[in-house]
Order: sequence, then C-alpha cells, then structure tokens
Amino acid sequence: MDKKTFYITTPIYYPSDKLHIGHCYCTVATDAIARYKRLRGYDVMFLTGTDEHGQKIEERAKAAGVTPQQFVDNIVTGDHGVLDLWKLMNISNDRFIRTTDDYHVESIQKIFRKMYEKGDIYKGAYKGKYCTPCESFWTESQLVDGKCPDCGREVHDAEEEAYFFRLSKYAKPVQELLESGEFLEPASRVNEMVNNFIKPGLEDLCVSRTSFTWGIPVDFDPGHVVYVWVDALFNYCSALGFLNDKYHDYDRYWPADVHIVGKEIVRFHSIIWPAMLMSMGLPLPKKVYGHGWLVIDGGKMSKSKGNVVDPYVLAEKFGVDALRFFLLRSFPFGTDGNFSNELLISTINTDLANDLGNLVSRTTAMAEKYFGGTLPEAREADPLDDELVAMIRETASRYAAQMDKYQLHLALEEVFKLIQRANKYIDETAPWVLARDEAKKPRLATVLYNLLEALRVSLTMLTPFMPDSCAKAFAQIGADEAAQSWDKAGEYGVLPAAVSVRKGETLFPRIDMVKAIEELEAMKTPAGPQVKIEPVLPDVTIDDFAKCDMRVCKVLACENVKKSEKLLKFTLDDGSGTERQILSGIAKFYQPEELVGKTVVAILNLPPRKMMGQLSCGMLLSAVREVDGKEELHLLMLDDSVPAGSRLC
Ligand code: ME8
Repeated sequence: MDKKTFYITTPIYYPSDKLHIGHCYCTVATDAIARYKRLRGYDVMFLTGTDEHGQKIEERAKAAGVTPQQFVDNIVTGDHGVLDLWKLMNISNDRFIRTTDDYHVESIQKIFRKMYEKGDIYKGAYKGKYCTPCESFWTESQLVDGKCPDCGREVHDAEEEAYFFRLSKYAKPVQELLESGEFLEPASRVNEMVNNFIKPGLEDLCVSRTSFTWGIPVDFDPGHVVYVWVDALFNYCSALGFLNDKYHDYDRYWPADVHIVGKEIVRFHSIIWPAMLMSMGLPLPKKVYGHGWLVIDGGKMSKSKGNVVDPYVLAEKFGVDALRFFLLRSFPFGTDGNFSNELLISTINTDLANDLGNLVSRTTAMAEKYFGGTLPEAREADPLDDELVAMIRETASRYAAQMDKYQLHLALEEVFKLIQRANKYIDETAPWVLARDEAKKPRLATVLYNLLEALRVSLTMLTPFMPDSCAKAFAQIGADEAAQSWDKAGEYGVLPAAVSVRKGETLFPRIDMVKAIEELEAMKTPAGPQVKIEPVLPDVTIDDFAKCDMRVCKVLACENVKKSEKLLKFTLDDGSGTERQILSGIAKFYQPEELVGKTVVAILNLPPRKMMGQLSCGMLLSAVREVDGKEELHLLMLDDSVPAGSRLC
C-alpha cells in the first residue's frame, strides 16, 4: 500500500537581506514537523525557497550597483546565503524553489491567464498619489507630510492601468472557510481575519504593476508584471509541477497539509490564497498555521533596528542542535517569544546539559563502571519502577497528540517530564549503593536497563528536533535502527536484555553564562546610523564632464532671501573681476554669516534662473547623503589658499 502523503511548506523568503534567527524559527519548526511525520511513516514533501521578485529587490539591486538577478543570486547561493544557512541548520527540505526559476515563471503566466480568461482578473485603473521623479504610486496613508515618503517631493493624483483580481467575489466562501474552524490556526487568528479584513468589505486586489520591471511579465500584456504575492503564493503549486514540466507530483501532494507562516502573512495565506485557488477551481490547503515572532525587548527583529541575531554566530558557539532545540522548546509556537542570549544559555544548561546530557552520561558511565558496558540478563523488578515504566509506555502518545496539533513546545514538555522522572529515579534507586552488594547486581541491571529504555524513547521523540545529537546518543545507549523507530516508542523492553553501551563525548557541554554573554557582547557591532547612499549614475564621457565649468569662488557676502526658509543669497568672487550672484537652498544647514570669507565651488555655466524674484547664475556644490531618513548636507569648501577662478578638472 502507498504511504500516506504529507505536504508541508514554509514561506519562501525575500532575499533582500541576509536571514536572521527569526527566519530560522519558522524553518526549524517546519523541519521538526517534517521529520516527525517521516518518523511516523509518511511520504513527506517539505518545500521551502525564495521569493525573488518585486520593487524592493529591484531597488536594493540598483543601490548595490548590480542586476536584480545578481543581487538575489548572491543572497540565495552566495557565501552564508540562504542555502548555506539551511544546510547549517540541518534543514531536511525535499525541494527548494526560487521564483526566478523558469518553470515557476511558466506556471505563473499560465495561472494569470487562466484567471483572466475566467473573468476573475480584469483590467482597471490603479488610483493613488504619484511621485514623478521616483516613478512611484503611494497611498494617502504612506505619504509623509503629504509628500513622497522616498524623496520628500510633491505628489499628484494619478491613475495607472492595472489588472485586478475579484477578491470581493470570494468574500463569503472565504469567511465560511475561516469560520469552519479547521482551516486557520491558532483559532485566535480567525477572528482577527474576519473582523479586521472581511467584515469591513474585501476590495478587489491590484495584481499587476507597470512602475517597475523586476517581476514575471503578464504574457498577454508585457508592460505589466505580476504582483509579487500572486507570484509567491502559487509557488506552493508550481513547485510540484502544476502547469509546468519540471516536476510531476502535483497530484500526489496537493492539497498541502499545512502551510506554516509567520503571523504578519496570515492574511495573504488565509484570505487571498484560498480565494485565488477557488478562482482556479483547485482544492484548498488543509491548514494554515500562523506562528508568532521572535522578538527582542518586545520588538520584531529587523536590520534597521540593528537587533538582528546572527544564526551563524550562535550555531558556531552553542551547536546547531542546541539552537534548534532552544527555538522550539522556549516559546509557544503560536505566540511571540522574547529572544535573549541568557534564555538561550539557561535553556541549554538546564534541559540539555543537566537533564538530558547528564542522564545519558550517568547511565552509560554506570553501565561501564559496574558491568564493563554490557548489562547481565538477570533482572529484579521493584514497585519503584512502575511509574517510570508506565511513562516509557505512555509518553509517545501524549507527545504525538501535541505534535499533531503543532504544539511543539508542549510535545517537548512531555519528553522532558519523562527525562526528569528518569533522573529522579536515579536518586530514588541509588545505583551506587546497589553496586556495593554483589547480590543486588540483578536489581542494579534492572535500574540501568530502565534508564536506557527511558532514554531510548526520549531520543526517538527528540530526533526531529536534534537529529545529529540524538544519533550520537542512540549509539551510546546501544540502540540499533529498529530500536529507534517510532513503532517502538510506546513500548517497554525493546533494547536487548544484554544491551551494550559505550560512553562517548559529552553531548551538551555546560556553558559558562557570564563568559559566554561577555563574548557575545564583545562581538556585537553597534547598530550605527542607517545611511542611504544613492546609486552611481550611468557613465558619461569625459567630454560631457568637461562641459561643466566648475570654479573656485570666494564668498564676499551671504544673506537669507526674504520670505524663503530655504534660500541663501551668495555674492561671490569667481576670479573674473565681476561679482556673481548665486542662490542656494541650504539655509537650514548654515547661518549666512558663518560662510562669509569661505572658499567654495560653483558650476558657473548653468543657465541663469530666477528664484523668489532673484537671479541665480550658477550652483554651489555640496555633498549630500541621507542618514536615518534625514538629509545631511556639507557645502564643499576648499583650503583658503586656492585662488578664486581656479578650474576643477
Ligand atoms: O514574508 N520571528 O518573506 P520574509 C519569527 N516572501 N518569524 C520571522 C521573524 C521573526 N523575528 N522575521 C521573519 C515573506 N520571520 C514572503 C513570504 S510566502 C508565499 C511569501 C518569518 O522573508 C516571517 O514571519 O519577509 C515569514 O513567515 C518568514 O520569516 C519569511 O519572511
């Protein structure tokens, strides 16, 4: 009989910056679920990937002076890129999709056309505020003081031709889907979606753009590119070969069993996504699970706040498995969790070094010390064993009940109850006392065997979370592959009576909290100001450059221009023997009197312009940049020994 399938996805990541520990949270959680399902015998398809189109990427590439494709290639496949990170974190995805892959582009073009032919996508006009120099549309709420949020210039009402998806048509079936109870979890997110988005009225969604080009072209109207979320959401189908020839397992795996997504993109996955699937006549995913964020001091990690945590640093310092475990043990999956290095270290020390690590090392050390590593077969049971043996038999089903609800932290809680019970059992049975009496050897063997059995089932359950460490620990406790299987996780008496153990390396060394925190602090780079540097302009010829007559001038006089907050009026000696007047919009950066006598640089051969009724014959040169969203300006000044009239070349 064919195995039951299980299709699970993570969001596909925007490669606009390097990924941080918050991004790892979602993928590690999905990985643990995928591994758990494989352990349970499912035929699992675990998909992740990157969402590479859109204006943001186009702008980042431009600022970096590279093509958008080069930009995303660097973040996805480059050193310490997305692929490297998933390898480091031991992510077991079966497939990786990039939305710039040809087969995906082909699927999206066909999907867009199908929805258009059905009449669910139609051509309309996108209305908004337009900034001409930036070629950008803005909504009223995005404006800053009524001006363009990017450049601060005036915007005007404008319309742009665009395609729209009839989202409004699907409001009712989507609401019914959400309220059916099974589709979206945690349940608290259902009310949020229905009350905040559906009840106020769903508007049709603008699904094409003409203001930038880095996207999938609408094949029947090539001036338009497909809206990045339409492109991105359908990755879940194109990656299986839907409307392309790259893969052929759409029928096998679709519909997805669960999409694991962060809370801020639940809206896209629980409203827009099912509506588009309904339009396409495709089956709906069985579940969308919206997890919380890893936050720092209550705020989301973000590069601009300078509080991102580098997973490479933590994995190198504490080990990949410890990091994976920490992420899923410390925070309820559905709500936000406050990340701190202190919590990370104390979780490792308490759960892994003390509880689990000690149980492995004490048990194997005692088996070696008292029996040379191989237990004798003679046994002597005691009522003291009953509670532990019952837990060995029962924990797996309690764990599974939580795993099946994606309550990963509660599943781990069940495992740690068993581990803690086993540690208490050592204190209760005092094997070191039993070891002193030859007649008690059968009893001592029983105690050690029970500890090994507790470890065996615990390790089976922990394998999805810490695959490498559990494999090492299984080898130490003498559990072969059959003994590691899920089928045996609810049984007692699986290890052979004469089991042989081998004490090995310490799995989870204890961490010196003070020292580790000091080291991490020392590695922190200050957030620093966010500086926006304009991209380098296209090349000009030397002849073009030579056309600019740039000269050194001495400031003879400088004053504010009446009724203008911006303008200063300069009277300059440009070396020609006649005075030159130039107006410059730098009043908010300088007091006029501080500039008198300074040696500055001006372009002299610009056509004269009138500003506020005054003539300006040329332009003063300044150095400008944007820091933390504010313009910084420095008037170019030279050494006073440079004579007026000298040419810049
Ligand atoms: O949203 N804590 O991509 P993305 C927890 N391309 N999760 C976090 C997090 C944090 N601090 N920061 C980010 C996108 N994430 C789209 C998805 S799917 C068709 C398209 C999570 O790179 C975030 O919640 O911005 C999201 O689930 C995932 O990382 C990718 O975010």
